[in-house]
Amino acid sequence: IYRRATPTTLPSLLLLGPSGAGKTALLTLTERDAAAPTHTSTAPLAIEALLPPRLTPASAHYRSPGDPAYERARRFLLVDTPGHGKLRHFATAQLASPANVRGIVFMIDAASVADEAGLNEAAEYLHDVLLTLQKRYTGARTSKGPVEIPVLIAANKSDLFTALPPQLVQINLEKAITQVRKSKAQGLKDSGVALAADDDALDEEREWLGEGGDGPFEFRQMEEVGTSVKVRGGNVLGGDGPDVKDWFAWIAQQL
Ligand code: GTP
Ligand code: MG
Repeated sequence: IYRRATPTTLPSLLLLGPSGAGKTALLTLTERDAAAPTHTSTAPLAIEALLPPRLTPASAHYRSPGDPAYERARRFLLVDTPGHGKLRHFATAQLASPANVRGIVFMIDAASVADEAGLNEAAEYLHDVLLTLQKRYTGARTSKGPVEIPVLIAANKSDLFTALPPQLVQINLEKAITQVRKSKAQGLKDSGVALAADDDALDEEREWLGEGGDGPFEFRQMEEVGTSVKVRGGNVLGGDGPDVKDWFAWIAQQL
C-alpha cells in the first residue's frame, strides 16, 4: 500500500469517514499540491506527506526551520482508507493496530450531513470509531492508559452552499450519535445480552459511548477517555481554491 519505501517509524494520521467525503481528494491534494479526479477507494493507501511551510510541528516548537530535527518532525504518513460500508474492515484493521498513529482525521461531507440519511451514516461510523478508541483506553492495562489518539472531524465541501457550518455539523452529529447509542443499547437488550448476568451488564456498560449517563452525547465527554474531538471546516475542491489550513494546523499540533 505504500507508494514509496518509507521508514515505518514515521508518525501517521489516519483518514477515515464515509464514502464520498473527500478523503482521497485530500490525499491527492497533499501529495501533488493540486486537486485531481478520484474514484471511490477499494484499498487503503499511504503516502509520505510534509507539513506545509509556516506550520510548526508541536514536537519541534523550540527548534527553527532548517534544523534537521525540525525538518524531520514535519514528515508524516497520511493513510487513506475506503469509506464504503462493505470496505470498512480496512479502516478497522488500521484502528486495531494504531502503532504510531498520532491522530484520526474523520472526514465528512458537510452538505450530505444536512439530510438525515447522510447524517446517520456519518454518525454510525463515527460512533463506532469513537467507541473503539474508548475501549482501547478503558481496556489498557497500564494505569496511565494508552497514548491518546485525538480526532479531527474535517467538515469538507464548505464550498457548497448546502454545506453546514462546523458548529452545526457538531450539533447534528452529537444528536445523531445520541440516537445511535440509544438504538445500539436497545438492540443489545432485545437480543437478551444484558439480561443474562451482572458480568454482561458490565460488558454492556463498556459498549456505551461516553460518560454522562443517559443524557445527550457530547464530544467533550470523550476527553475523559483520552480523546479530544474537534470539528473544523474546509474544502479540498471548489470555492476560491482549497482551504485546508485549519486541518493542517490541527495535524501540526499532533506531530
Ligand atoms: P471513498 O473512497 O469512497 O471512501 O470516498 P472518498 O472520501 O475518498 O471521496 P473522494 O475523495 O473520492 O471524493 C468524492 C467526491 O467528492 C469526488 O467527486 C470529489 O471530487 C468530491 N469532492 C472532494 N472534496 C470536495 C470539496 O471540497 N468540494 C466539493 N464540491 N467536492 C469535493
Ligand atoms: Mg477514497
